[in-house]
Amino acid sequence: MSAETHAGEGTGTHTRPPAHDAEGTAGGTGTPGAVSGGAPDATGTSYIANFRVWRGDIEGGGLEDFKVEVFEGEVVLDIVHRLQATQTPDLAVRWNCKAGKCGSCSAEINGRPRLLCMTRMSIFERSETITITPLRTFPVVRDLVTDVSFNYTKAREIPSFVPPADLGPGEYRMQQEDVGRSQEFRKCIECFLCQDVCHVVRDHEENKQAFAGPRFLMRVAELDMHPLDGAEESGLDRKSTAQEDHGLGYCNITKCCTEVCPEGIKITDNALIPLKERAADRKYDPIVWLGNKIRRRNGA
Ligand code: SF4
Ligand code: SF4
Ligand code: FES
Repeated sequence: MSAETHAGEGTGTHTRPPAHDAEGTAGGTGTPGAVSGGAPDATGTSYIANFRVWRGDIEGGGLEDFKVEVFEGEVVLDIVHRLQATQTPDLAVRWNCKAGKCGSCSAEINGRPRLLCMTRMSIFERSETITITPLRTFPVVRDLVTDVSFNYTKAREIPSFVPPADLGPGEYRMQQEDVGRSQEFRKCIECFLCQDVCHVVRDHEENKQAFAGPRFLMRVAELDMHPLDGAEESGLDRKSTAQEDHGLGYCNITKCCTEVCPEGIKITDNALIPLKERAADRKYDPIVWLGNKIRRRNGA
C-alpha cells in the first residue's frame, strides 16, 4: 500500500488536518502575490504557484489558500519561508538544516510524508495546487509543527547496546559485512516520516502504546544483528521483546515506511523482515529452540 493510500484515509474531523485534502475546501484566502496560478513572470524565471496550507492548533483549524512566487531551483521549504516573509509572518514551521540532515522539516505534501527542504518544486505541475499539512500521526502544536514526543518515548523503551563482557574498549572487532549492515540503519535522520506513514498507528491511536513503529523496530533489528551485542548473554532476548514489548507482530510488511524514507533505508527488507524471521526461528524452529536452551543452561 502506498503512502498516498494511507494518507487518503481521512477522519473527516477538523481537529486534525485533512490528511490528503488536495481538493478540500479552503479555510481562508491569503494575499495574492501577483497573477493567476501557474503563469510565468515577465522574465520567465519565476511563476506564481497555488498553495493550500493547514493553519490551526490542537483545537482545530483548516486549509488556507495562497498564491506564492516560485523561482527556479526552489524547494517547498523556500516557498514556506516566502509565505512567512510576505503573507503569514506567524506561520509555524519547524526546520533547521535545509539540507535533508536534521529531520525536522517533516510534513505532508499532497498527502505524502516528505521533507519540506528536500522536495523540489520542479516535481509539481506549475498549475497544480500544492497542499501542505502537518504530520497526521502526531498531535498538532501549531500549523505545520507537530509534537513528535511519541517517538522519543519509544526510543527510550529500546534497551541500548550491551557491551560484550569479555572485551574492553578498543578491543572490539567486527567483520566489514556486519559494519555495513548496521551502517545502513545508522543513516537515519529521525525525521519520523516512516512513523507517520505506518498505518498501524496512523489511523489507530489505540495501537501507539503497543507498537514502537518502523524506526524503532529497525533499531531493535540493528542491535539484534550486532555481533558484539551482549544482550542475550545478559538475559535480554531482543527477538522476544521485539514481539512482546515493541509490537513487531503488528507490522504486515506493507513497505510504506521504506517508500517514504528520505535516506533510502530499506527498513522493511533489511530490518523488519529479517527480525521477523529470526523471531519466528527462535519460537518455532526446534533446532534453534534446543540450541538456545542449551546455551542458556550453560550460561552462554
Ligand atoms: S512495513 Fe510494517 S512498519 Fe513499515 S509501514 Fe508497513 S506495517 Fe508499518
Ligand atoms: S528510518 Fe528513514 S523515514 Fe524513518 S526516521 Fe529514519 S530517516 Fe526518517
Ligand atoms: S530542514 Fe533539516 S531535514 Fe529539512
